[in-house]
Amino acid sequence: MRGKVVKRMVLTNCQIDFSSFLYSELVEITGNFDDRPMSDGGSRLGEGGFGTVYKGLLNDKPVAVKKLNQMDDIASDELQVQFYQEIRTLKALKHENLVDMVGFSCDGQHPCLVYAFMANGSLLDRLACWEDSPPLSWRQRCLIAEGTARGLEYLHCNHHVHRDVKSANILLDEKFVAKISDFGLTRASAKRTSTTMMTERIVGTRAYMAPEALRGEITPKSDVFSFGVVLLEILSGLPPASENREPQFLMEVRYDIDDEDEELTLEDFLDKKMKDWELSQVETTYSLACNCLHDRKNRRPVIKQVLSELKGVVKSISLDFQL
Ligand SMILES: Nc1ncnc2c1ncn2[C@@H]1O[C@H](COP(=O)(O)OP(=O)(O)OP(=O)(O)O)[C@@H](O)[C@H]1O
Ligand SMILES: [Mg+2]
Repeated sequence: MRGKVVKRMVLTNCQIDFSSFLYSELVEITGNFDDRPMSDGGSRLGEGGFGTVYKGLLNDKPVAVKKLNQMDDIASDELQVQFYQEIRTLKALKHENLVDMVGFSCDGQHPCLVYAFMANGSLLDRLACWEDSPPLSWRQRCLIAEGTARGLEYLHCNHHVHRDVKSANILLDEKFVAKISDFGLTRASAKRTSTTMMTERIVGTRAYMAPEALRGEITPKSDVFSFGVVLLEILSGLPPASENREPQFLMEVRYDIDDEDEELTLEDFLDKKMKDWELSQVETTYSLACNCLHDRKNRRPVIKQVLSELKGVVKSISLDFQL
């Protein structure tokens, strides 16, 4: 019964005025969803908790096609609800720091979402210098942090909590402008996270989650917490979680840096691959990250305050540049 209701909802959704593609068109532009990585001549860009992302060319314009997983009956109904919500959300939300949606398809085996292609991939990959990409400079990192905060502020002003803020969901266009992706996809995912997700994903997600979010309470302040983890990644270049590291979660490093008995200083923590940092800017950003990571949500700043601090940092960098 429930499945039928959901399917009808998706069908109705197909009629909304939005660029809708035939599944067969998407099959064609992605080389039949060629699962080989791009470097081996395939079209696969990456994989996440909801599906696999492929590159395709649409009238000579590169796009990213997210083919959503088909799972068992219940999960697939949930995925369809998520799909419907993503489309509704994306249709309404447009901002310089959000990934543009080109369209969708829902007539095939898998529901698909089509996004503008982001030439510089994800912030996670660029911080890790994956595929030998050059390290991001401090200036680039600050602009990315500020852009992400702008995008989040826009979402929060529109009464939308992202729920999955992380460096893999911050994409970078050809000019390294930060574009937030996957707002909308996780609304119905709480159940999946605790039941059907792979362990890696649970760990990955936990690495960004506020204490109250782990208990199921989601507010804009949980996005602010997750953004605090992203700021620590930007400062350190380290992944948010790593099994072979003590502490395992990056968010816990702040206890070591703040603890006078521990040897770790803020300078030790900084990514050695960036050279152009300035102490007061780094200190401001680190203390902002710590405020975002306050265990008690009422003590965390709202995103507007976070943005205003980051604007201050970016402004001081621009002044340095003029000197
Ligand atoms: N619009 C895009 N342009 C270029 N690359 C993209 C685009 N969207 C996704 N990707 C690539 O595909 C990868 C997988 O994205 P996907 O959203 O499926 O997974 P994720 O972000 O790691 O996890 P989640 O499922 O929680 O969003 C990204 O890390 C990125 O490298
Ligand atoms: Mg994603």
